[in-house]
Amino acid sequence: MTASPTSSYATKLFVINIADKILLVHMLTIVMLIIIRVICTLTTTTKTATLPPGPLHIPILTSLLWLRKSFSQLEPFLNTLHAKHGPIIALRIGSRPSVFIADRSLAHHSLVHNSSIFSDRPKALPTRKLMSSNQHNISSASYGVTWRTLRRNLASEMLHPAKVKSFSEIQNWVLDTLTNRLKTASESESFMAIPHFHYAMFCLLVFMCFGERVSVEKVNQIERVQRTLLLSMSRFNILNFWPQFTKILLRKRWEELLKLRKGQEDVLLPLIRARKQNKGSKSVVSYADTLLELELKEENHKLNEDEMVSLCSEFLNGGTDTTSTALQWIIANLVKYPDVQRKLVEEIREVIGGDDSGLTKIVAPGGETLGGVIGAFQHMI
Ligand SMILES: *[C@@H]1O[C@H](CO)[C@@H](O)[C@H](O)[C@H]1NC(C)=O
Ligand SMILES: *[C@@H]1O[C@H](CO)[C@@H](O)[C@H](O)[C@H]1NC(C)=O
Repeated sequence: MTASPTSSYATKLFVINIADKILLVHMLTIVMLIIIRVICTLTTTTKTATLPPGPLHIPILTSLLWLRKSFSQLEPFLNTLHAKHGPIIALRIGSRPSVFIADRSLAHHSLVHNSSIFSDRPKALPTRKLMSSNQHNISSASYGVTWRTLRRNLASEMLHPAKVKSFSEIQNWVLDTLTNRLKTASESESFMAIPHFHYAMFCLLVFMCFGERVSVEKVNQIERVQRTLLLSMSRFNILNFWPQFTKILLRKRWEELLKLRKGQEDVLLPLIRARKQNKGSKSVVSYADTLLELELKEENHKLNEDEMVSLCSEFLNGGTDTTSTALQWIIANLVKYPDVQRKLVEEIREVIGGDDSGLTKIVAPGGETLGGVIGAFQHMI
């Protein structure tokens, strides 16, 4: 009778012992890996070019300290460093050095006079590399033929005023949808305007991207995958710390990232494929159409599906938050300054000649929509 508890106790002890040993082996491996890494880093840094002055960098440890800091802590920290080391300093945040310039003439000299040296983008970190199909989006492609091809395609095929005109029918439809939604929502006592702006921008951008008026559910689905990815990217930064190592230790988080990317492909790819299949019967030229035609001279191939997903995703992201936030601010300020609002209405009346029928359309925030999209993209590229 008494044997069983004792034996289970013994088993427990044995299990704990084994667990301890496994843990110890794990810890030792980690410590050894860190030591090897430190040695590797120390031997390679001696070969890199001399950097501007900055605080002491201890491989691994400094990166770990940075991981704990929030972005808002960066500016005050930089100010103290500039006071100590001068206007140009180098900091090692993450796996590569960043140079900060705190003097406008020096900044002008480097970014304008010597722009060719600084205009390239660094190699993407592993999680970002995955999301942009190895830097195949305009905002991360390295400076060169591929970047120029992608940028020119967007500027001349989509954002050129003549091309924007071809979307006027859908602009009006989106504007009507937005005004109706805002009118209905404003009947309740308090409401948030931003989700309606988001939705309107998504409807417009999804149409411009895939040339198709998709269902409300589909728009919501696209918006969901895009937003989830956008908001969770910072959570995956830690995976870049040392990828070979995090691929083992943080396998679950890598899988989560791959799943999110897969979810995005599942939603966007069918729309791209549909465009590929019904060649010829198209009333407008969508962004996906231009991508299907595009040839990357430098890499000597057409864009693959993965790259097209990344570019479409960039197109959708690039114009949504930027424009909706601008619209929200415009509306908030019009509410806050009634005299500005009155002046605006008067100006509109002058232009449309006292005919109030079109007024809601122009006063409605959506009137700014396309200008906003173009502005946002011009900032981005
Ligand atoms: C940077 O620009 C100046 C001219 O403003 C030029 O004299 C200098 O050679 C450039 N430096 C490099 C490294 O190209
Ligand atoms: C382009 O790809 C990079 C990753 O390399 C990503 O950080 C960035 O958000 C992407 N741009 C847009 C607008 O989605």
